[in-house]
Amino acid sequence: MAVADLLLQSSSSVSLLGALVVLLLVYIVSSSSFKNRKEPPGPKPLPLLGHLPSMVFRKPHTEFLELSKKYGSVFTIYLGPNKVVVLAGYKTVKAALVSHADVFGERTQWPVEQEINQGHGIIWSNGHSWKEMRQLALSHLRNFGIGKKMWEDKIIEECDCLIEVFKKFKGNAGQGFDTTPPIYDAVANIISSMVYGSRFEYGDPVFTSLVERTRRHMHLLFSTSMQMYNQFPWFYKLFARWTEFYRLGAANVKQTTELCRLLKETFDPHMCRGFVDAFLVRKQNLKESGITNQSFCNENLLVTVMNLFTAGLETTSGTLRWGLVFMAKYPKIQDQVQGELSRVIGHRQVRLEDRKNLPFTDAFIHETLRLANIAPMSLPRRTSKDVTFQGYFIKKGTTVVPLLTSVLNDESEWESPYSFNPAHFLDKDEKFVKRDAFIPFSAGRRSCPGETLARGMLFIFLTTLLQHFRFSVPAGVSEDELNPNSCLGLSLNPLFHEQPSAECEEGLKI
Ligand code: HEM
Repeated sequence: MAVADLLLQSSSSVSLLGALVVLLLVYIVSSSSFKNRKEPPGPKPLPLLGHLPSMVFRKPHTEFLELSKKYGSVFTIYLGPNKVVVLAGYKTVKAALVSHADVFGERTQWPVEQEINQGHGIIWSNGHSWKEMRQLALSHLRNFGIGKKMWEDKIIEECDCLIEVFKKFKGNAGQGFDTTPPIYDAVANIISSMVYGSRFEYGDPVFTSLVERTRRHMHLLFSTSMQMYNQFPWFYKLFARWTEFYRLGAANVKQTTELCRLLKETFDPHMCRGFVDAFLVRKQNLKESGITNQSFCNENLLVTVMNLFTAGLETTSGTLRWGLVFMAKYPKIQDQVQGELSRVIGHRQVRLEDRKNLPFTDAFIHETLRLANIAPMSLPRRTSKDVTFQGYFIKKGTTVVPLLTSVLNDESEWESPYSFNPAHFLDKDEKFVKRDAFIPFSAGRRSCPGETLARGMLFIFLTTLLQHFRFSVPAGVSEDELNPNSCLGLSLNPLFHEQPSAECEEGLKI
């Protein structure tokens, strides 16, 4: 018995010892693997506010660019209590958005947008509904879009209207005038034709309020106060109803509902006028096939339509305005573009198929998109799972900012990153060349679905305007106001928003 007791005791102390050894090993392995989970470096955040205070006084994208020089191409900052990983430089941004598209392909959920959109639309949604709406928008743009004459003709028709508005300023020559309102109207009309199937008359109060509200909504979305709400959403919930953002959103929903209602009343499945009809046709087809698909509900239609306006209006109008600003600022480059247009096209209407014969003009438009840098931080992404990226551990659900400005100005990719230099897109024989680091529309599965339409508008509008007018800087506008990086906000628009911006002369001799 005594021997058996002894044996039992010794075997239990052995198993205790064994358990301790196993625990020790587990601890060593897990703590070393924890140590291997090196998180991206970054500056020390302030309690609760993180780095928000420094963002109030500086433009976030320039602040991030500075930080990337100190902390490298993958670094962490805190917006309020929320962690954000910033990706900088062409190689890093491309590796994340393209090579790791499955991990970095989701959109982060900003609480304010989440509250308004309820997971609908394209821009702020994820998963099945996002896929359905994005595919529908893309196929609508393809079926009716660029490449087929119909869209091109609509852009040309709109450009004629824009030229008439510019001509009215003839008497104003020398003093300059603000090109902002007519350019926004022209772009809004192209998006309206794409979405609703028809344009509005300039000055129509319904149209004016639609354009103004969309602009203001976009401006507020990226304002400091809205960023504060996004970091402290309970604060927004308390005050939402009293904010301008909320009121604009509600008015937008009301107006978009009314415009969609008018189309539903006259809907004919055999005649697709625009995106709204394409949505209704798809919904009807699914119903007839007995397939229930929650994505094709009224709310999704409304949010998607509003998304197309919001995403397309500010970006395209802003880039067009930068194109004119660069022409005014660099008269010699304007001479070269107008010289090429004169030689190759003469007085006839420019068409998209002419692009291949206008390498300098094409290079000028690409350089405008590069230096205008209209969406310097793209739109925020989110990791869909834990990932170790470039040696750093990033947890699932982390907000990720692809810093497009660091790609479009990457010193290892561009010969003169901070100058306006169309030669970036020309080879030694003056032929147009594509550049890998040219990603103003972002890259990967969430890249801009409106790219082809936007490029079509930029080409036709800029070339046709330059056939008719010469642009110059009015007296009193400072150098700083002509510099893209002098502007605030997420979408970089020329600073002199509401002031005279360009002097035009009708009937340029070409
Ligand atoms: C010069 C003009 C434009 C520029 C520079 C631009 C740029 C961008 C960028 C950088 C993004 C973020 C993509 C990402 O998260 O990776 C985006 C998204 C988007 N853009 Fe554009 N855009 C332009 C015009 C347009 C137009 C004309 C439309 C449609 C009418 C449009 C519709 C959208 C939509 C719906 C998204 C969200 C895509 C998604 O989340 O899947 N954009 N755009």
